[in-house]
Amino acid sequence: MWRFRSPRAIYFGRGSIKYLEGLEGKRAFVVTDPILKQLGIVDRVVEKLGKAGLEVRVFAEVEPNPSKETVERGAVQMREFEPDWIVGLGGGSSMDAAKAMWVFYERPDWTWKNLMVPGAKPGLRKKARLITIPTTSGTGSDVTWAFIITDTQAQRKMAFASSEVVADTVVLDAALAQKMPPRVTVDTGLDALTHAIESFVATLRSDFVDGLALRSAEMVMRWLPKAAANGNDLEAREHMHNAATIAGLAIGSSNVALAHALGHSLGATLHVTHGRSVGLLHPYVIQFNRRKKPVADLYGEVAYHLRVGETAEDLVSALRGLMKRVESPLALKEFIPRDDFDRSLAALAEKAQSDPCTLTNPVTPKPEEYPKLFQYAYEGKDVDF
Ligand SMILES: NC(=O)c1ccc[n+]([C@@H]2O[C@H](COP(=O)([O-])OP(=O)(O)OC[C@H]3O[C@@H](n4cnc5c(N)ncnc54)[C@H](O)[C@@H]3O)[C@@H](O)[C@H]2O)c1
Ligand SMILES: [Fe+2]
Repeated sequence: MWRFRSPRAIYFGRGSIKYLEGLEGKRAFVVTDPILKQLGIVDRVVEKLGKAGLEVRVFAEVEPNPSKETVERGAVQMREFEPDWIVGLGGGSSMDAAKAMWVFYERPDWTWKNLMVPGAKPGLRKKARLITIPTTSGTGSDVTWAFIITDTQAQRKMAFASSEVVADTVVLDAALAQKMPPRVTVDTGLDALTHAIESFVATLRSDFVDGLALRSAEMVMRWLPKAAANGNDLEAREHMHNAATIAGLAIGSSNVALAHALGHSLGATLHVTHGRSVGLLHPYVIQFNRRKKPVADLYGEVAYHLRVGETAEDLVSALRGLMKRVESPLALKEFIPRDDFDRSLAALAEKAQSDPCTLTNPVTPKPEEYPKLFQYAYEGKDVDF
């Protein structure tokens, strides 16, 4: 038995932020980051919440790859303010931080250990509900049941999952993503594409996910180059914003796989952004996974659907073609010094191997294959093992 998960409502289209004006409640706690505050994006949301008559408090301290400490600080402020709405406003970092703070707000008796239990059930919604408003077009965190928090001391990203943290309401207004710099647009767009394709081949794939996965992959291939070339192309922005959430719905009921396990490790160890990590590693993972015929056939199906061929290798070529067009690196050596890489290789392999996303990869790598995959991705060599 399996289950399709989604938020209760997704408001989308230009101007959908207006939905907030009709929100019923007393106090809203907005979790966001300092750049969005600087850009005036937070003010636009606060103004709408004000029109709804809500008292608002803003926590604008979330950093990229949010840490346990930031979550704990935000949860303390939530407990003081006692919101009945929590608003996760920003990229995956802010939305993930909002989910984690929400748990510790409702369950002050819980520790990170409680959250580690797979399928944890904190019993949320006794105090507050969650609205997610993405400002990047990539992670899908607005609709997923996952949140990724970094243990800065251990330099490790911790993936948590609870179906209770799926947002109640999502607001997808592409105008909020308009000021995303090209580099963030590309990184987060490649994250969405990786979600689409990994959810299609993961061991938890199902009929309910296939359509979402294929369509969102197609949308990213078509619209990412346009959104990256001209951030003010609102049509491209809107399709990318929708594609990211559709791919998020796909991972929410399937999962991501090995590109994410390797990518989480790379992000935490060498401080590479999430989208760039998973996007760069994905073609190598496809070449590794295609050794199993049914999996190679699935990649071929994606290639066929994208009209770029009919094999896994055709898909790899198409992904690399897209990455060249949007000026994203294809090999780690393009931006990581060799000494840093060599020094980190053992840690990279160990963290990737223990990442839960390996469990849903359709092929289980042998322990010695983890460092090998990183080495091939470093050199830009086609996987031949
Ligand atoms: N929960 C999930 O299902 C899930 C899935 C994938 C990734 N993630 C996590 O999400 C995080 C990455 O999220 P992200 O890629 O969205 O990046 P992010 O939230 O870290 O934001 C990246 C940068 O872009 C800036 N930014 C965001 N929106 C902007 C805008 N509209 N205009 C200008 N600048 C803007 C931010 O201030 C930040 O500096 C990682 O921690 C990753 O592990 C979670
Ligand atoms: Fe991702």
